[in-house]
Amino acid sequence: MWYKTLCFGFFGILFAYCIYLPLPENVEEPWKVRFIDGVIKMTSLVATLFEEIGLMKYDDVFLTSTSVFLTKPVSDENITVIDTNFSDIPVRLYLPKKKSEILRPAIIYLHGGAFVLGSCKIQPYDDLNRWTANKLDAVVVGIEYRLAPQYKFPAALEDCVLVVKFFLQDKILEKYGVDPARICISGDSSGATLAAAATQLLQSNSEYKDKIKAQALLYPGLQYIDSLMPSYQDYEYGPILSRKMTFKLAMLYLSEDTALKEAILRNEHMPEGSRHLFKFVNWSDFLPDKYKKNHIYTEPVLGKLKASYPALLDSRLSPLLDSDSQLQSLPLTYILTCEHDIVRDDGFIYVARLRNVGVQVTHDHIEDGIHGALTFTIAPTYLHLGLRIRDKYINWLEKNL
Ligand SMILES: *[C@@H]1O[C@H](CO)[C@@H](O)[C@H](O)[C@H]1NC(C)=O
Ligand SMILES: *[C@@H]1O[C@H](CO)[C@@H](O)[C@H](O)[C@H]1NC(C)=O
Ligand SMILES: *[C@@H]1O[C@H](CO)[C@@H](O)[C@H](O)[C@H]1NC(C)=O
Repeated sequence: MWYKTLCFGFFGILFAYCIYLPLPENVEEPWKVRFIDGVIKMTSLVATLFEEIGLMKYDDVFLTSTSVFLTKPVSDENITVIDTNFSDIPVRLYLPKKKSEILRPAIIYLHGGAFVLGSCKIQPYDDLNRWTANKLDAVVVGIEYRLAPQYKFPAALEDCVLVVKFFLQDKILEKYGVDPARICISGDSSGATLAAAATQLLQSNSEYKDKIKAQALLYPGLQYIDSLMPSYQDYEYGPILSRKMTFKLAMLYLSEDTALKEAILRNEHMPEGSRHLFKFVNWSDFLPDKYKKNHIYTEPVLGKLKASYPALLDSRLSPLLDSDSQLQSLPLTYILTCEHDIVRDDGFIYVARLRNVGVQVTHDHIEDGIHGALTFTIAPTYLHLGLRIRDKYINWLEKNL
C-alpha cells in the first residue's frame, strides 16, 4: 500500500505545483483554465520523466493521452459523416443531408497539435466540423495528415495539398454538390500553419491559382525564425502552451536531434547566411506599439547549430517567409489571435504584412484568449472561450464564404 500512498502523494504535490501559476487577470473561468493547464504541464513533466528513464518517448505520452478522444464517423439527423480516402490520404467528410437547390460552400479543415499530435477524428474537431457543416450548410473535409516524428517535414503539408488538389477536381466537386467559387481552407495552431502554407502553394501554382476563395487561420503559428518575439517571452510558461513544450514537440517535425530543440530555445538555430530573412519576421517593424514596449529587438544568433536544416529557411514551414510579392496574391483572409498566447505575434505580423500588400484581412483579436481554446470544448474541460472563438470564426465564414 505504501507505494500507492507515495504515488498519490507525489502526484498530488506535482499537481498542486502545476496549477499554482499566476494567470492573466482577465482570463475567463480561471479555475478550469488552471486545471487544464495543470493537466498539460503534468503530462509534460511525466513525459519528460518517462523519456529520461527510457520508458516512453515524450511525444508518445501526449499522443496516448489524446487518443482517448478519438471518435467513429457517426452520422446524425442533419449530417452524413464518412471516413474515406482522397489520393490515399484518410479524410473525414461531413455532408449535409437535406436537399439543396444551390451548390454548397466547402471548408477544408486542418487540425492543430504541433505537427505531432491530434487527429481530425478527436471529439473537439469532430464537433467543430459537424457544427460548421450544420451551421453553414457546407461540405466539410477534415484531413488526417501524417504526423511527426514518424513523418517529417514536409509530409504533413504534402498530404494537405494533395487532398485539396484531389477535392478541387470538377468531378469531385460535382459529386458532393460543392460550389467551386466558395472553398475555404481553415486550421488552428499548427493546422493554421499548414493552412497558410497550403494556400500559398496553391496560389503560386498557375493550375490552382484563385481556386481557393478564402483562408481562415485560428491562433496560427507562422514562423520558426525568431523564438524570442515579445509574446514568446511574455507567455514563456503558458497558459496552456509553454515555450519549451511548443518547440520540443514542433521541432520533431524536422528532427529528433535534441540539439535543434535546444538551439531554437536559445534563438541560436538559424544558419549562417540567413539574416536576409529576418526582415520578414522583424517584430519591431510589424507589431503594434503596445506589444513592443518593454522589449528590445535582438536578432537571432547565426551559425551556432552544426547540423543544417533547410526547412528553417522554407516558407512551407514558416509561411511568414513568403516575400511581399508572393503574399500579394493571397485570397480573402481571416486571422484570429489570442492575447495570452506565445504565437500571438506570428498572427499580428501576418495581419500587418498581408494588409501592407493589400490583401483583405479580417482580424479578430481575443483580449482574454488563450491558445488551443477550440479544443477545450468537451467535458470536463468545457471552456466558454472555445465556443466564443468558434462562433466568431463561423460568423466570418457565414458572411464571407
Ligand atoms: C439538426 O439541425 C437542427 C436545425 O438546425 C438543429 O436544431 C438540431 O440540433 C440539429 N441536430 C443535430 C444532431 O445537430
Ligand atoms: C485509406 O488508405 C489507407 C492507407 O493509406 C488504408 O489503410 C485504408 O484502408 C484506406 N481506406 C479506405 C476507406 O479506402
Ligand atoms: C529590425 O527592425 C528594426 C526597426 O525597424 C531595425 O532597426 C533593425 O535593423 C531590423 N533588424 C533586422 C535584422 O532586420
